[in-house]
Amino acid sequence: MADRWTAADMPDQSGRVAVVTGANSGLGLVTARELARAGAAVVMACRSSARGEEAAGRIRSAVPGAALEVETLDLADLESVRSFVGRMGEAHGRLDLLINNAGIMAAPRRLTKDGFESQIGTNHLGHFALTGLLLGGLERAAAPRVVTLSSQLHRRGTMNFDDLQGERSYSRWGAYGQTKLANLMFCFELQRRAVEAGSPLLSLAAHPGYSATNLQFAAPDRFYEKAYMWIGNRLFAQSADMGALPTLYAATVPDLPGGTYIGPDGRGEQRGYPNVVSAARKAYEKSDWRRLWEISEELTGVHYEFASARA
Ligand SMILES: NC(=O)c1ccc[n+]([C@@H]2O[C@H](COP(=O)([O-])OP(=O)(O)OC[C@H]3O[C@@H](n4cnc5c(N)ncnc54)[C@H](OP(=O)(O)O)[C@@H]3O)[C@@H](O)[C@H]2O)c1
Repeated sequence: MADRWTAADMPDQSGRVAVVTGANSGLGLVTARELARAGAAVVMACRSSARGEEAAGRIRSAVPGAALEVETLDLADLESVRSFVGRMGEAHGRLDLLINNAGIMAAPRRLTKDGFESQIGTNHLGHFALTGLLLGGLERAAAPRVVTLSSQLHRRGTMNFDDLQGERSYSRWGAYGQTKLANLMFCFELQRRAVEAGSPLLSLAAHPGYSATNLQFAAPDRFYEKAYMWIGNRLFAQSADMGALPTLYAATVPDLPGGTYIGPDGRGEQRGYPNVVSAARKAYEKSDWRRLWEISEELTGVHYEFASARA
């Protein structure tokens, strides 16, 4: 494997079908573009079809002939998740790659359509439901992978199971850190369950270090905070092109074991080329994986059924 792996090292993805959530912006846009450049048919799952089409146009100018579809998906609305999965099932019998990329950061306490706190609702519960409902299509692929985006900020998160949705006490950054820890626990428990069920599905996680995208501007509504983020992005962040490499690596490099976590190789994992990294010790607490899974099933009403269990 190249020391400094880039998107140019990606194996040919022809014949593979990929879904990328949040594909109209930042890391999702680069991920969709590079998977398409490598030959995959990419479904860009975006909450705004206008923003999705605009992004698809940009990808087509960079990659003439890119096989792209734009589909509406709002992870903060379980009905939208179900309807997206229904359309996917009609259009594609099989799904090779699911990139759980979309996210919001540090939002003030708001509720999703289903009444969940918006950060856990979008970043974790929406993707939990999406992956579970797409499981049948994924298991029809020869070597299906699910890649879930986390963050170094998972280290600042705590699974606050007694007040998961911040009803009693809410911190915008604490809630974000919790969702990114939940993303890792979801990834690891999905892998554990896939192995237990004898499924070919691999579940991996990735984080982009610090990358200049729209993430830093979507939630803050105070001027000084936006200014601080702008300066941080200009001075310290790497490009979205670099930030998407860990996702692309986790999604396409052959022979990676399930449960692998990929991040940048630079100091503090803030920037650099993709390599295998470790999560904080708390992310490997198996009893928490199970607890989160059970709560997520209960809240979303989505119960995972692997093919071996269906047979
Ligand atoms: N950038 C970083 O430094 C950094 C660091 C660590 C982790 N991450 C993670 O990387 C992932 C991608 O973020 P990014 O940096 O590329 O940010 P971004 O440019 O803001 O992109 C986020 C994407 O998520 C979409 N999204 C937000 N809410 C959604 C919903 N309810 N349903 C469907 N899509 C929704 C956004 O759609 P709209 O355009 O319509 O809002 C956008 O396409 C996130 O999971 C984030 O936590 C980023």
